[in-house]
Amino acid sequence: MIELKNLHKAFGSKQVLNGINLTIPTGATMCIIGKSGCGKSVLLKHIVGLLKQDQGDVLIDGKSVATMSKHNLFTIRKKIGYVFQGAALFDSMTVYQNVIISLYEHGERDQDILNLEARRALASVGLLPDFTENGTPNFEKECAILSNKKPSDLSGGMKKRVSVARALVGSPDYIFYDEPTTGLDPVNSEQIDKLILELSKKLSITSLVITHDMFSVFNIADHVAMLDKGLICFEGDAHQLQSTENPTVTEFIKRFRLEARMQ
Ligand SMILES: Nc1ncnc2c1ncn2[C@@H]1O[C@H](COP(=O)(O)OP(=O)(O)OP(=O)(O)O)[C@@H](O)[C@H]1O
Ligand SMILES: [Mg+2]
Repeated sequence: MIELKNLHKAFGSKQVLNGINLTIPTGATMCIIGKSGCGKSVLLKHIVGLLKQDQGDVLIDGKSVATMSKHNLFTIRKKIGYVFQGAALFDSMTVYQNVIISLYEHGERDQDILNLEARRALASVGLLPDFTENGTPNFEKECAILSNKKPSDLSGGMKKRVSVARALVGSPDYIFYDEPTTGLDPVNSEQIDKLILELSKKLSITSLVITHDMFSVFNIADHVAMLDKGLICFEGDAHQLQSTENPTVTEFIKRFRLEARMQ
């Protein structure tokens, strides 16, 4: 379980988080919504210790990230897969190198383990055949072809899948997605939604999804929280989100519908 307690963060005079209290239950898929620039990515970065709060705390499995030793933070980070906003793949690296980078940086050098992890992760996101097909004539060839491609050889949807595969390496308990469907067409967006759901069920992963895509929210969320003016202004399930009369939420949904219709 992840708990955010009274989290505050300012950059200079700009107060971005102003007392966030939120619990992300184990096994759930939680979506965090909010306007551009309201602090969604900043919130996510606090959970993984990439940013340090001014006040308050983040607890992961009961342990405080703020007071954690470097060694423990390293261990906790291994439990978390992070799909960065915009995929954030390294253009000069192959798909294979992108996928195994965190394992490599954590010191793993055994080529068999690296290969196995890369294949397992790429199969989990549907980019390689399932392991049951291992040994079929094309299996090795398909692995080699895909693994040696560079991000520039891939479509937008495939890039997102590779970035999800990278987050899955090391079998994390939690996976954080920062705007996973942004920039994708509706078909690809729906496929990514399906993948998020599939992974959370199949691998029992707790998912935290930052998004402003309301189609996605209604497709995947068990819980929804909305961030506004540095605070959580709404929390509930997708049904409660649709029926709430909270004006900040209704305005946000109305604007999304309007923008979606104009595209
Ligand atoms: N490292 C930083 N230094 C200074 N200001 C920052 C830093 N990171 C974020 N901010 C500011 O904090 C605010 C929230 O940024 P954040 O990236 O969390 O927004 P967001 O809700 O994720 O927006 P979007 O939907 O566009 O991704 C913005 O005003 C941003 O400029
Ligand atoms: Mg963001």
